[in-house]
Amino acid sequence: MKDSDAVYIENLTKKFGHFTAVDRISLAVRTGEIFGFLGANGAGKTTAIRMLCGLLLPTSGNGRVAGYDILTQSELIKRAIGYMSQKFSLYPDLTGRENVSFYGAAYGLGKSAIRDRLEILSDRLQLREFLDRPTASLPIGWRQRLALAVAILHRPRIIFLDEPTGGVDPVFRRRFWSILYELAEEDVTIFVTTHYMDEAEYCGRISIMHQGRIIEVGKPRDMITQHQAHNLEELFVDLIKGQDQADA
Ligand SMILES: Nc1ncnc2c1ncn2[C@@H]1O[C@H](COP(=O)(O)OP(=O)(O)OP(=O)(O)O)[C@@H](O)[C@H]1O
Ligand SMILES: [Mg+2]
Repeated sequence: MKDSDAVYIENLTKKFGHFTAVDRISLAVRTGEIFGFLGANGAGKTTAIRMLCGLLLPTSGNGRVAGYDILTQSELIKRAIGYMSQKFSLYPDLTGRENVSFYGAAYGLGKSAIRDRLEILSDRLQLREFLDRPTASLPIGWRQRLALAVAILHRPRIIFLDEPTGGVDPVFRRRFWSILYELAEEDVTIFVTTHYMDEAEYCGRISIMHQGRIIEVGKPRDMITQHQAHNLEELFVDLIKGQDQADA
């Protein structure tokens, strides 16, 4: 691994009983990179991300995130990263402001630091008018933007976003991605999953995962050219189909 790697994993594996959800995946993601972690439903993306975030112990393999060992330094990893989970990243019955206060305290930020940071993020993510409504009542686009604000509250250098734009309309998705670009320009590393192929094309590099394995890694354009596909969607479908046939 290089010092400039934000994420480095080697043969990372997670088994649930006899079932292998993540099967010997290896990757290196550079600092400031926008890395798209793609794959079919059930491929193992969320399981892999939970291991990277220090929330789930691997069965085997090793790796480092933000310079910390995922096997022995998960508490340090949790503090160094931001994480937006696929399902429950905010408390639905709390307002945006209350969610921010709760998570800010959990990250160890003091009251005035939370207030200052919320000021900045409210402007940057245009959240102000939605902060005092229960999160459950917000349209999903706003909710996800708020969840991003919470994930970057403590200024993490790496953020893991697990399908942050699922169910979000195209206009909101554009805006969300322009915020991700701004973060990447500040050298924040972004590790993101998506099922939207237009978003995958915004990534510097992507990997494609299938049944626990990474079957392809590279720049979206290079992959399309190499496989003589018309676009990423066609490439994705062909790769998964090809893999299913090879496995049969
Ligand atoms: N705690 C668990 N116990 C048993 N099996 C699990 C557990 N967590 C996940 N799995 C299984 O591991 C596989 C990978 O699941 P995972 O949620 O990581 O996939 P994913 O790539 O995130 O899918 P999606 O795109 O639908 O979010 C699935 O077959 C899932 O049912
Ligand atoms: Mg998932």
